[in-house]
Order: sequence, then C-alpha cells, then structure tokens
Amino acid sequence: MKSLYRFCCFCFLLPTLIVSDSTDTITTNQPLADGKTIISSGGAFELGFFKPDVNSNRTYLGLWYKKVSKLTVVWIANRDVPINDTNGLLKVTDQANLALFNGEGTAIWSSNATGSVKNPVAQLLDSGNLVVKDAADDNPENYLWQSFEHPTDTLLPGMKLGENFVKGTEVYIQSIKSNVDPSRGNFIFRVDPDGFPQKFLMNGSTPRFRTGPWNGLRLSWGSPGLQPNPVYTYEFVNNPQEVYYRYDLINTSVYSRLIVSTDGIIQRFTWNYKTQDWAVYLNAPADTCDIYGLCNNYSICSTASSPICSCLDKFVPKSPSEWQATDWSNGCQRRVPLDCQKGDGFIKYSGIKLPDTRWSWYNRSMTLKECEAICLKNCSCTAYANTDITGKGSGCVLWFGDLIDMTRVNGGQDIYIRMAASEIPSGANKAKILGISLPLVGAFLLLVLSLILCAQKKKRRQRKLAEQLPSKGKMESRSEQRLNTESDKEDLDLPLFDLKTIEQATNNFSIDNKLGAGGFGPVYKGTLEEGQEIAVKRLSEYSIQGLDEFKNEVKCIAEVQHRNLVKLLGCCIEGEEKMLIYEFMPNKSLDFFLFDNDRSRLLDWPKRFQIIIGIARGLLYLHQDSRLTIIHRDLKAGNILLDSEMKPKISDFGMARIFGGTETEARTKRVVGTYGYMSPEYAVNGVFSTKSDVFSFGVFVLEIVTGKKNRGFTHPDHYHSLLGHAWLLFKDSRFQELIDDHFSQSCFLSEVIRSIHVGLLCVQQYPDDRPSMSSVVLMLVGDGALPFPKEPGYFTERNCFFETDKIFSSGNQLTITLLDAR
Ligand SMILES: *[C@@H]1O[C@H](CO)[C@@H](O)[C@H](O)[C@H]1NC(C)=O
Ligand SMILES: *[C@@H]1O[C@H](CO)[C@@H](O)[C@H](O)[C@H]1NC(C)=O
Ligand SMILES: *[C@@H]1O[C@H](CO)[C@@H](O)[C@H](O)[C@H]1NC(C)=O
Ligand SMILES: *[C@@H]1O[C@H](CO)[C@@H](O)[C@H](O)[C@H]1NC(C)=O
Ligand SMILES: *[C@@H]1O[C@H](CO)[C@@H](O)[C@H](O)[C@H]1NC(C)=O
Ligand SMILES: *[C@@H]1O[C@H](CO)[C@@H](O)[C@H](O)[C@H]1NC(C)=O
Ligand SMILES: *[C@@H]1O[C@H](CO)[C@@H](O)[C@H](O)[C@H]1NC(C)=O
Ligand SMILES: *[C@@H]1O[C@H](CO)[C@@H](O)[C@H](O)[C@H]1NC(C)=O
Repeated sequence: MKSLYRFCCFCFLLPTLIVSDSTDTITTNQPLADGKTIISSGGAFELGFFKPDVNSNRTYLGLWYKKVSKLTVVWIANRDVPINDTNGLLKVTDQANLALFNGEGTAIWSSNATGSVKNPVAQLLDSGNLVVKDAADDNPENYLWQSFEHPTDTLLPGMKLGENFVKGTEVYIQSIKSNVDPSRGNFIFRVDPDGFPQKFLMNGSTPRFRTGPWNGLRLSWGSPGLQPNPVYTYEFVNNPQEVYYRYDLINTSVYSRLIVSTDGIIQRFTWNYKTQDWAVYLNAPADTCDIYGLCNNYSICSTASSPICSCLDKFVPKSPSEWQATDWSNGCQRRVPLDCQKGDGFIKYSGIKLPDTRWSWYNRSMTLKECEAICLKNCSCTAYANTDITGKGSGCVLWFGDLIDMTRVNGGQDIYIRMAASEIPSGANKAKILGISLPLVGAFLLLVLSLILCAQKKKRRQRKLAEQLPSKGKMESRSEQRLNTESDKEDLDLPLFDLKTIEQATNNFSIDNKLGAGGFGPVYKGTLEEGQEIAVKRLSEYSIQGLDEFKNEVKCIAEVQHRNLVKLLGCCIEGEEKMLIYEFMPNKSLDFFLFDNDRSRLLDWPKRFQIIIGIARGLLYLHQDSRLTIIHRDLKAGNILLDSEMKPKISDFGMARIFGGTETEARTKRVVGTYGYMSPEYAVNGVFSTKSDVFSFGVFVLEIVTGKKNRGFTHPDHYHSLLGHAWLLFKDSRFQELIDDHFSQSCFLSEVIRSIHVGLLCVQQYPDDRPSMSSVVLMLVGDGALPFPKEPGYFTERNCFFETDKIFSSGNQLTITLLDAR
C-alpha cells in the first residue's frame, strides 16, 4: 500500500506528459518511464529500462544499439544500484540534474551535475552519448554532463579514454561482474599518465596487461589489432591539458566497440551483418607474454621461444634453480653490477616492447644523443630510448628503476640499457645485440651459403663471358650505359625481321590472330614460313609512353637469355612500325588459369611449385646472374607466360630498369607497376631495388598458393589484405585454410608451407628484411630453418602507403591521427 501510495503521489506531482518513443530528448516535463524508450535521431541508439536477469526484478537504465538484433547494452546509469521494481523513472530537474527514481519515488542515481540553464534537457545523440544541456545550445563545450565521460564497460567511438588535467577528471572503463549483474567487476582499462603514458588493464590494483607507450606510430605493444585498419581510426593525444586514447569509426554503419570483459580481457567486437552477431576483432592480453611482468625484471618474453622467458643478454637469473624450474618470479639481474663511479655505458637491445614507463621521464624534443648524455649523468637512470620512432626516431624517455614487462614483438623498438663499463664491448661503445633465435641463425647460414655460391657462380660466369665476348671494352661500356639514349639499339645484335614476313605470319595483323594487349600495344600470334610459332608485340601508334617502353624492352630482353624468361627472337623496325618478336607461349599467362574457377583445377600442386621455382630462378637470373642487374618492376601473374608444358617464363620488360656498377637502389617520380604487387617503398616513395621485385614475387607466391588475387582481397573478419590474412593464419599455424581447394588433393604440405613461409618473408614491410632472390631459391628447395616473417607490407603502416597520416607536432604537444583509406 505504501509503495502504491507513494507512487501515486509521485504521479500526481508529475505533469501529465510521459515521453513517447518518437523523440530523442527528455525534458523537465517529459520524463522517461519504464516501458518507454527514447531513440537517437539517426536511429543508432536507444535509451530505456532493462532487466539483465529475467529471474530477478532488478531493473537498470541503459543504452543499447537500436539496429543490432542482439540486445547489446553499452552504458548503464545505475550499474551499482538497481531499481527493484518496474516503475523506474528518469527525470531532468530544473537544475539540469539527471535523476533516476524507483517506484517509491526515491532517487537511486543522479548525474550530480547541476547548472543553471534556461531549458535543461537530456538528449540521446546518435553517437550513443547521452548529454544534459540547454535545449537551444548544441555546443559540446557547454554540455553540463555526458555519459561519454562516465562509461560503464564499453568504450564507444568518440569517447576519450584518459585524463583531463584541466578538469581533473578521468574516463576509464570497468568490467561488469557478470551478464546478470552489471555492478563493478575487478578489471579496469585506463590510460596511466604516470611517466610516459601507457594504457593499462588492471586487476584491482595489480596490472594485468600494458599496451606499452605510444611511439608515434602505434603502441609499443605489437598487436595487429591495434594497427591502422579499415574499420576505425585511432589517436593518442598527449599534451599538458589532457592525455587520451580515442577511436572513431570510418563507416558509422560498421559498428565496433571495445569492452573490458568480466574475465579481464580487452575485447574489440565488430558487428557482422551476415551472421547477425558480434565478431571478436581483437583480444588483449592476446598471449601469455602479454601478461604483465610475467618474466619479471630484466628478462624478455617471447612466445616463439621455449621456455618463453629468458634473461636479457648480459643478465642472469636472480635465483638460477627456480628459473631453471620455470619459476620466473625472481627475475634477472646484471651479471656485472653497475658501478656508476667507474663510468657505465649502454648496450642497445632491439625489437622490444618497451618496459613499463610508469617510472620514467620524457622529453619529446630531445635527440637520442642528448638522451644518452643525461641518462649517463644520473646514476639512477637505467635505460633510455626514443619516444617517437617515426622516421629516424626522436625524443627521449629515461627509465629510473628496474626494467619490467619486456616482450619480443614484431615492430618492437630499440632500448639502450645501462651496463657496467666492463660489459661494453671493447672497440665500440655501442654494440648491436641480436636476440638469439635459431631461425635467424638459420637464415644467416643460408645467406652465407648463398653468397658463397653466388660468388663462385659469378666468377665462373665472368670467365665464360670473357671467353665469349669479342672485346672487354664493349662490355664495360655497356654496363655503364643508361637506358634512354638513342645509341642503345646500335649495340644490340638482334635479328631483324622485315615487315613483310611479319605481315604474312600474322595474316596481316588479323583480328583473329590477336592474343591480347601488352604493355605498349597489341600482341599477335603468328606462324613463320618454317612453321615456327611467334608472338608479335606491336608498338601502338597511339602509345606515347610506348616508344620508351619499346626501347626499354629491346634493351633489357636482348641482354638476357634464360629458360624462365620469354625469349626475344628479333625485332622489326620499318617506317612507323616497331615490333618485337617472341617465342610463342601456347598456354597464355598464369592469371588465365590461376583465377579461373575451372581452369585453376588444371594447376595441380606439382605444376604450381614448378612455376614458383621457375619464376624464382628467372628473377634470380635477372637480379644477379645476368651480366647486369635488371629490376623487372612489374612482376605479376599476368606477366608470367606458360609454355606447352606449363613451364613459366617471365615476360613484359617494358618497365624494367637496368642497374649498372654499384647502383643498388633508385628512385623514380613516375611509379609504374600494378597495385597489389608493388612494394610499399616503391608505391609510396618511388624507391625500387631488387627487393621491390622480391616483394612482387612474394605476392605472386601467395596468390599461387591461395588461388586468390591480392588486389581486391579483404578478409571479411579482419579486413586485412591477402598478405595480412596469410600472415595472421601463418602465425597461428593455420596453413590448411590458406590452400586453394583446387589443388589440396595433390599437395605436398611441407612444400606448400615452405612456399607460404618464403612468400611471407618476401612481402615483409622493410626491403632489408626481405631475402634476396638467391636466398629465396635456396629456401624454396632446401629444408633449413627459416626466420619467422615479420609483418607484411601494408600491415602496420598502411597509413603510410595511403599517405593519409597526419602528424602535428609543436613543442611539447603532439597529436597523431592515423587514417586508412580503403
Ligand atoms: C518481482 O516482483 C514481483 C511483483 O512485485 C514479486 O511478486 C516477485 O516476487 C519479485 N521477484 C523477485 C525475484 O524478487
Ligand atoms: C528496493 O530498494 C530499496 C533501496 O534502494 C530498499 O529500501 C527496498 O527495500 C527495496 N525493495 C524491495 C522490494 O526489495
Ligand atoms: C552522485 O553523488 C553521490 C553522493 O555524493 C554519489 O554517491 C554518487 O555516486 C554520485 N553519482 C554519480 C553518477 O557520480
Ligand atoms: C585477479 O586478481 C585476483 C586476486 O589477486 C586473482 O585471484 C585473479 O586470478 C586475477 N585474475 C586475473 C584474470 O588475473
Ligand atoms: C558502410 O557500411 C555499410 C554496411 O556494411 C555499407 O552498406 C555501406 O555501403 C558502407 N558505406 C560506405 C560509405 O562505405
Ligand atoms: C623488480 O624491480 C622492482 C622495481 O625496482 C623491485 O621492487 C622488485 O623487487 C624487483 N623484483 C625482484 C624479484 O627482484
Ligand atoms: C626538452 O629538451 C629540449 C631540448 O633539449 C629543451 O630545450 C627543453 O627545455 C626540454 N624540456 C623540458 C621540459 O625539459
Ligand atoms: C636523477 O634522476 C632522478 C629522477 O628524475 C632525480 O630524482 C635525481 O635528482 C637525479 N639525480 C641527479 C644527480 O641528477
């Protein structure tokens, strides 16, 4: 009776209007009652009352996606204080306070933010932000209160996770206890502003996971999930006013949310319209090494090693027997203690997720040299590093105290750790310490072996050439020549065909004889009188670039002879006509088979492997076994021709470049090539070298194994390209999922895996990481250990490729936004 009385009393006091479903606003005289909802203007979010547990009367005011078929609550007002009846009421007071009442008329929750505005309202915005403001004032600066500054367990796009030093407020997310009890759980995800700021997942007051600091490009933690991607952009802002992490959706219909789960995992989900369910986009911690401080002080965790913890080089376990028994709790210490008086030094360690920076100091305008100097001067400074790894690196972060929570990660950084003078290698004050890893040693041996082999081959070849060539002088002058000089052709002793012969052979360039179009004009099939079949490439009279490419092709192809390069039989230059005559390849190009559902069945695994090896050999010949270094620049499935036995030959040298002498890298303003095959440094900066061909080769290998085109491929689950997709599966040893169904019957799994592995090594982001073609050939046919591939190009720094990264830096302020074009 009492409650009924109270309730009625309450009703009586209220104005008669109760909010209806068609609005996004609660006003002082239009409260929101249980059973009703308000919906944001664009229809994305809905605010109302809900019961997480059907077996209880506990009711909460929450906010959920309107268009998502699974009830997904992203914010709860009264998470700790449920309403225990179904008569809840949300009201905006005249003082602009947002208050939630139960059926007894008791205010059980309040926004506590009051202010004097003319017409206070609470409005649900389409971003999912519930804001209290003056009805006539839309300026976010003037919001009196907003749910975005009081999140529950979900970080929505546009929220700032972090601290505002001016207002003295912090925004963090905290797990719910369980699916039926949204009260505060143990886990908090926040930005820790101490030292050089990092993001922390805390279990109570104990760190559980740390992303590592922002290094200008990304978080020091090497997770693929935190990289530029097509779903959302993110930024990490750190200035004297505020420090925060924030992300925004690229397409607001592609929902993505970040939560801290009941069992202490940061999870990002994206909504999958097809399955009508949320798909996990990323988890953190993602593996054992992500667990904070697992290996304790001065040790490094690597999931690729066994055991996973090891002391840093020149450090030893504090208690060796326990360490031996995989009890890491005592960590490691320097084998030679520091002696600041005797003058310490520093040793560089690479590829590392920087240690916990809570006890650090930083200055973003200092150089590494200045950084070293001030660290050296202060005996309690234990290490230093750059704050920003963009370009050559900049800024200075100094550590005071022991170093903890280091992991060997892809895209890890350099850190310089203080060492006793006696530990510093003599002769050099800084030495590069490579992490000991068996695959690396393997790769090194392979490299040495291939260098020896190459050197021998080269000597043999040079001897041979010396015997063959009429005069040494001619050879030297040729290796120095540049391509686009008119005199080039004069040097070449290429058979000349006359126009008549070619016209006869091609039935007067009949349309029936047309095979397709090459780089600079149409290609015709022809039959010479003796019955030999030829392919004729005719320079189109309309092609402006064609003439250069024509000359280029003549130049390049006339230089080379290899069974995996298409053979140039001669040329024909008469009047306006310019043509190249090749051997005829009856089976067209590889893409004709590879990407066709029916024809790809004809390519069983032995044929595919033969093609991979053949192209590797052809490319190796171009790069280093021919007299000159020739960069093809447009290697792709479409430029690989197949003879009657499906043996592959590289064709189309229209874009190739010859390197003479000591030239190993060049830059061009006119980037030519094919998207999907171009290496990042070439596509972005026009820099090409043999390693850009190696990249294209890697793409081609992955295409041949998967039967999928890299260009245009985006995986629906994670939006990575074929390269990224292959790398992710490879990391998880899920090779089977990569293999083209059309040959899975005929495959020799170890060969396939090896091919994928080599392919991934070839498409690594940085040219220096990619193997040379001689290593590639040895890797493909050998069975030695291979190094683990780093992230493929366009994986971490796709932002760079698309040239949409914006960096604003002024003094101590730094704002970085990463964008990614799709
Ligand atoms: C929920 O409320 C109804 C009506 O007030 C009551 O009969 C029932 O016992 C309550 N259930 C629980 C689990 O408290
Ligand atoms: C509902 O909760 C209030 C406090 O919020 C409490 O005083 C009251 O006894 C509860 N009523 C029921 C039926 O559980
Ligand atoms: C509002 O203030 C009360 C009393 O100080 C406090 O218990 C409550 O948690 C505050 N509510 C919010 C949403 O901050
Ligand atoms: C969180 O901390 C508690 C208490 O220390 C511990 O029992 C629990 O295992 C921790 N949970 C995780 C996921 O680390
Ligand atoms: C955004 O995503 C939706 C749903 O996937 C799609 O239908 C729409 O075309 C996308 N819009 C843009 C501009 O990409
Ligand atoms: C690791 O370093 C911290 C910080 O200096 C120190 O408090 C702790 O005792 C060290 N741990 C061990 C096992 O020595
Ligand atoms: C940071 O370093 C720069 C360059 O050495 C110096 O001018 C500046 O005063 C330093 N700022 C702070 C806060 O120490
Ligand atoms: C060394 O650095 C620490 C931490 O910044 C500072 O407290 C201490 O005064 C410094 N010592 C010297 C000798 O500069």
